[in-house]
Amino acid sequence: MAKVKTTFFCQSCGTQYAKWQGQCNACKAWNTIVEEVIQKAEKNDWKSPTSTVKQAAVPLRIKDIDLSQEPRMDTLDGEFNRVLGGGIVPGSLTLLGGEPGIGKSTLLLQISLKLPYKTLYVSGEESQKQIKMRAERINPDNNNCYILTETKTQNIFKQIEALEPDIVIVDSIQTLHSDYIESSSGSISQIKECTAELIKFAKETATPVLLIGHITKDGHIAGPKILEHMVDTVLQFEGDRNHVFRILRAHKNRFGSTNELGIYEMRGSGLREVTNPSELLVSKKDEELSGNAIAATLEGMRPLMIEVQALVSTAVYGMPQRSATGFNVKRLNMLLAVLEKRAGFRLGAKDVFLNITGGITVDDPAIDLAVVASILSSNEDVALQKDVCFAAEVGLSGEIRPVQRVEQRILEAEKLGFSTIFVSKYNKISLKNTAIKIQLVSKIEDLVGFIV
Ligand code: TYD
Ligand code: MG
Repeated sequence: MAKVKTTFFCQSCGTQYAKWQGQCNACKAWNTIVEEVIQKAEKNDWKSPTSTVKQAAVPLRIKDIDLSQEPRMDTLDGEFNRVLGGGIVPGSLTLLGGEPGIGKSTLLLQISLKLPYKTLYVSGEESQKQIKMRAERINPDNNNCYILTETKTQNIFKQIEALEPDIVIVDSIQTLHSDYIESSSGSISQIKECTAELIKFAKETATPVLLIGHITKDGHIAGPKILEHMVDTVLQFEGDRNHVFRILRAHKNRFGSTNELGIYEMRGSGLREVTNPSELLVSKKDEELSGNAIAATLEGMRPLMIEVQALVSTAVYGMPQRSATGFNVKRLNMLLAVLEKRAGFRLGAKDVFLNITGGITVDDPAIDLAVVASILSSNEDVALQKDVCFAAEVGLSGEIRPVQRVEQRILEAEKLGFSTIFVSKYNKISLKNTAIKIQLVSKIEDLVGFIV
């Protein structure tokens, strides 16, 4: 019997070793190296030997390459198009990652059902009946979408050759396996091989492929990091499973900006595009409550109005508690320290709870001022006017710092009917004749004057 060929791979970065060792030299992770069986056949082509499809690449002068021949394929889903930079590029490979149950299969099935092209949806996770049941909830009448349940790439390519689809969707890359590699599905060598075969297929036939990828505990796409290098676009579908909002972002995009963001709402009948997220995220209450403040933030390129809620109360136990949902707790502690030192508020013996409504997480520093305002409002038990919003960063010495794209934020606030926006005095604003009042503040004490 021929000797079985095995290699060792680091599961976190994909580096290959000839023998086992405890720590990966490349990424320094411990206990990530596993043995995998590999057995390469001489020829690993996605085409069957009898296939007539062929297209040999020839070098072209850069100015002779015709871009107009490759229009983007419109997915008829505004949010998805926006994140991709205007639609799917023919021959591209897109990887969609996200936590289990977040709605990756739902999103791509929904897009396949909308697409005005012949689409092949290959699933290694669910049966045709299960997919049909899901499709019934979303959009049952579609004549262009074909479902295949298969995990072996060679069989998938056989079906592709027969069907000649315009777009191929694979759910998920971790379930695929290729005959050319011996190790089990989901292993690093299988993921690498199957992706390489799909890339070859996509580039040679100009058929775009959309792949679903699972993510690991710490939020990275499972499999080697090179998987992300191999594909053209990496999208991440995120959100809190207990909330209805889902955010689609591009982490890498060879054909567009990674600043764009798509927002969906999970409904009983699939995902709905949210074209005006600010209206949904800000609750429309009649009464004014203390501890609520609204921040004009930017997620990527999109302005988003976000509601911040704070609760400040006297600590019952010796050790005051600080907790934050959707906001960095360290940053909260820093803002509390600034309030204590620069504005003289005694918050050291108080519990402080902070919550960003809608289940989203905000990294934009422009939310600082709204956080401070909500804490002050709760501490003093004075409600802020509900048509006031904030957009500025707070520095360690209590100074109110400028934020980027402040005009875009002001215009969004104006559009939504806010009467006043607080921004830093140091922001350069050339807007004239706005209906919204732009209140300039330079130190935290100025803000205290308005609230208390
Ligand atoms: P799914 O798309 O299978 O997630 P993933 O592929 O990322 O693991 O499942 C998403 C969840 O969405 C599932 O728990 C049920 C829910 N859902 C709805 O709320 N409405 C719907 O129309 C569908 C199809 C699913
Ligand atoms: Mg799924």
